[in-house]
Amino acid sequence: MNVTVFGIGYVGLVQAAVLSDAGHHVICVDVDETRVENLKKGIIPIYEPGLTPIVEDNYKLGRLEFTTDAKVGVEHGDIQFITVGTPPDEDGSADLNYVLAVAETIATHMNDSKIIIDKSTVPVGTADEVKNKVTEILKKRSLTLDFHIVSNPEFLKEGSAVQDCQKPDRIIIGTDNSDVADTLRELYTPFNRNHDRMIIMDVKSAELTKYAANCMLATKISFMNEMANLAEKLGADIESVRHGIGSDSRIGDQFISPGCGYGGSCFPKDVQALIKTADSIGYSSEILKSVEAVNCRQKEKLFEKISKHYNGDLKGKTFALWGLSFKPNTDDMREAPSRVLIESLWNVGAKLQAYDPEAMKECLRIYGKRDDLTLMETQELVLKEADALIIVTEWQHFKAPDFDLIIKLLKAPVIFDGRNLFKPKRLENQGITYYSIGQK
Ligand SMILES: NC(=O)c1ccc[n+]([C@@H]2O[C@H](COP(=O)([O-])OP(=O)(O)OC[C@H]3O[C@@H](n4cnc5c(N)ncnc54)[C@H](O)[C@@H]3O)[C@@H](O)[C@H]2O)c1
Repeated sequence: MNVTVFGIGYVGLVQAAVLSDAGHHVICVDVDETRVENLKKGIIPIYEPGLTPIVEDNYKLGRLEFTTDAKVGVEHGDIQFITVGTPPDEDGSADLNYVLAVAETIATHMNDSKIIIDKSTVPVGTADEVKNKVTEILKKRSLTLDFHIVSNPEFLKEGSAVQDCQKPDRIIIGTDNSDVADTLRELYTPFNRNHDRMIIMDVKSAELTKYAANCMLATKISFMNEMANLAEKLGADIESVRHGIGSDSRIGDQFISPGCGYGGSCFPKDVQALIKTADSIGYSSEILKSVEAVNCRQKEKLFEKISKHYNGDLKGKTFALWGLSFKPNTDDMREAPSRVLIESLWNVGAKLQAYDPEAMKECLRIYGKRDDLTLMETQELVLKEADALIIVTEWQHFKAPDFDLIIKLLKAPVIFDGRNLFKPKRLENQGITYYSIGQK
């Protein structure tokens, strides 16, 4: 099938690559010329396991193309995906300008019928706005063309995005039109073979399903962080509690790891956006407001522990930092807990020596070169002459380190761990002062 994807970010690029790999002919359109030129040269803008070979192979085969020419893209695809960003507006609601700009572009160039699929995460009612925009532009062009707006939210996880798109848990299709549903069934057939993963529903329910999913996961994390904070004060061990409740299949063992807060491009903005949607219809979502508040507080947790350990005297201290990305297997630092911590430490005059397997380039892009941040090549190098080690991201590399070397290289054997990677007793026995989240 001929498919066009507007927006070659995490969602657009991975989805386009996977669709082309299954045999569809996909043209990707982006307004970012550098991104498009780089992709043509095989330079992939994001770090995502398994993505590079799929992009390279299908580009060479001519099934995956990149362009800034929107007209070419609109003419090509019977199916037009919108996968542009929906960042938070100043008040936290989703900014729909990019989505509506693509709708306008499609309507400006279309000369035959199109299925326009909204894959960006958008508030309930956006499909209607997209429809109105397309209708308005077609009217200006004095054209009457058949088109359908579908909501098909994306559930991929950064770090396993390729696999998530190739083997989705579910494919949500929001449409009231059975012919459109059949076309999309055909599009997704390669990913829907073993059992039927396609769930068809009305457009508004599909739009809300995406927010409900992310808000539920964010709720689990904030709930567990709340329990960890309670455990700490009550003298219980949150890791025992986690095992205790995770074995209950009604609760499940996913997304109940306590830590230093959730980040990334989705959970924080989607929780905020749903709070705003609720507010706009006169409903105050107390659960979501608390989820957000607990998460903001949790991102301060490591700094509080560090500050307390040094009696508030952090000026001139140097800390080794393991992890910058908001989670492992990605270079994404959007809303990362590391940023809150780094900025809090800078505010009190501390310096950082940081290492991350993938996100150092992104860190440099965000903060630029600074005297109080040194990015280093290995996780060992950052330890040298540092006052303590801080762990913010649970990269696999960090889970079984050489503790003797850590003790040797640090000025004092102190570890602040925002991801509960180690057992407190084990480190205590080795003479390390260890702070984690709610562990005993
Ligand atoms: N990143 C994730 O893990 C993830 C997962 C599920 C859903 N989502 C949702 O998918 C959407 C996209 O997220 P992302 O992380 O892929 O965004 P991104 O910021 O990585 O990429 C967006 C891309 O769209 C391009 N763009 C902007 N305006 C354009 C236009 N008018 N025409 C063509 N291209 C344009 C930008 O240049 C950029 O390359 C968001 O709504 C997000 O919430 C993201």
